[in-house]
Amino acid sequence: MTMHDDEHGVVHCVRTTAQPDKKGKELKKWREKKRLDLREATGAESSADASSSWISYPGLFAGGGLDVMTALLLRRVLPTIEKKSKLRVLDYCSGNGVIAEAVRRRAKKSKLHLLDADALALEAAKKNLDGDNVQRVLSDGWTSLDASKRFDLILSNPPVHLGLAADFAPLREFLRGLPLRLTDDGVAYFVAQRYVPTRSLTADIDSLRVERDLLDPRFVVWRCARAP
Ligand SMILES: C[S@@+](CC[C@H](N)C(=O)[O-])C[C@H]1O[C@@H](n2cnc3c(N)ncnc32)[C@H](O)[C@@H]1O
Repeated sequence: MTMHDDEHGVVHCVRTTAQPDKKGKELKKWREKKRLDLREATGAESSADASSSWISYPGLFAGGGLDVMTALLLRRVLPTIEKKSKLRVLDYCSGNGVIAEAVRRRAKKSKLHLLDADALALEAAKKNLDGDNVQRVLSDGWTSLDASKRFDLILSNPPVHLGLAADFAPLREFLRGLPLRLTDDGVAYFVAQRYVPTRSLTADIDSLRVERDLLDPRFVVWRCARAP
């Protein structure tokens, strides 16, 4: 980076045969240290009870913080999670781990998987959530997730755009994979804009029951389970 101000940088790139940034020093220069404030998602009154130090990188979704749709999803789902539960939870399209962090705060013993296609997002997630109960999976959709893994709870704020254009292919893949990835009693919740045609995207997935769980003026939280 040859020059920068608080928000922008000018980068000089040259072609090289050397191993780039082997020790991660260059990447570290871009690291943003923030606080993640989950009050809007948890209903906690003081930020001391609902905030964590938090790592992001430029370009991550919602600036690496709490998005309004993610907050809605969490407000709906967190109260349904028993605090002492040891759920196997998948944060699908996790970004830097906001959903997983909120679940971890609610049910400390849960086993968390974070899946995303963006290596940088997962690099941030590695700093944000670590420990034996956390695994990160770099994967385009379900493709690189171990086929044997099943989850009690799957949560997602999935992508529905590619650039500026609507693109429902990743959401469709998510929905098609759910019957194979949920345990018998497992549930998945995801949030989407009201215009997203979830009913038609799931019309031919017989093995999945999909219900509208919460309707907001702009967004919907959907609940999915395996069909009996
Ligand atoms: C709407 S953001 C949600 C991020 C985070 N869960 C949150 O709520 O703040 C969607 C995420 O999906 C990831 N993503 C996009 N396409 C993907 C794909 N094909 N497979 C896995 N992750 C993908 C993006 O990298 C991004 O982190």
